[in-house]
Amino acid sequence: MAKIIGAVTTSHIPAIANAMANGLEETPYWKPFFDGYPPVRDWLNEKKPDVIILFYNDHGLEFFIDKKPTFAMGVADEYYNSDEGWGIPTIPPVTGESDLSWHIANSIVDEGFDMTICQEMKVDHGLTVPLNLMWPGHKYGHVKVIPVCINCEQYPMPQPKRTFELGRAIGRAVESYEKDINVVVFGTGGMSHQLDGERAGFINRAFDIDCLDKLVTDPEALTKYSNIDLVEQGGAQAVELNMLIAMRGTLLGKVTELHRNYHAPISNTGSGLMLLENESPK
Ligand code: DHB
Ligand code: FE
Repeated sequence: MAKIIGAVTTSHIPAIANAMANGLEETPYWKPFFDGYPPVRDWLNEKKPDVIILFYNDHGLEFFIDKKPTFAMGVADEYYNSDEGWGIPTIPPVTGESDLSWHIANSIVDEGFDMTICQEMKVDHGLTVPLNLMWPGHKYGHVKVIPVCINCEQYPMPQPKRTFELGRAIGRAVESYEKDINVVVFGTGGMSHQLDGERAGFINRAFDIDCLDKLVTDPEALTKYSNIDLVEQGGAQAVELNMLIAMRGTLLGKVTELHRNYHAPISNTGSGLMLLENESPK
């Protein structure tokens, strides 16, 4: 049977791709951020997960404001990056995993999650930057990735309670999949950030660190927040924390924190890198 063996939270901002493309990892600005990553890379290279389920928010590339699915997932064998305007170099496609994708889609729709199912789907920095962080030089082609998008760009958007429940349903779907494979779940984005308006650049470290603590030991507490609470506490785009909350929902076993690196600001965000181990319930 399939098992979720762990999870990762990470920033996904496009500036990371630029820093990596230009070899800036050791510069004073970037070093405290990149220094967090080797232990997570080592763990992934040791565990060699068969599939990554990756929660991110589409930033308007595939789903613009005229059509905005609340939840969408890919069931394709390949995904192309379609970021524009960030100065990000052209990068290779991401490998998909259609069999497990369809199993998850069938299972969660049966459970009552009205997921938009995409047989073709362009992905953006929310998905490709985290993969490049884990396998630098875009050497992630061997890993099969299932993209799951949660709307946090345009109202109405799902609340933390609902995104956590979506994670729970995806976790149950994976644990009921008959093939013996290991899965790791990524929650990307966040943490506190505000890209524009009067509070542009607003960062709330205490809130971010408390969210990381709660993701480990008390995730239900995060489901008590509304999206407005997240905006008040962490800035307008802190609603991206829903990706981390959904990720945590998928972990149905005993969860242990293996590694953490919080650093702020990086661009306009607080960056929360965390590696969690999940002792599968079976
Ligand atoms: C930034 C943050 C994001 O979440 C994003 O999607 C794009 C840019 C930033 O802070 O630069
Ligand atoms: Fe983002």
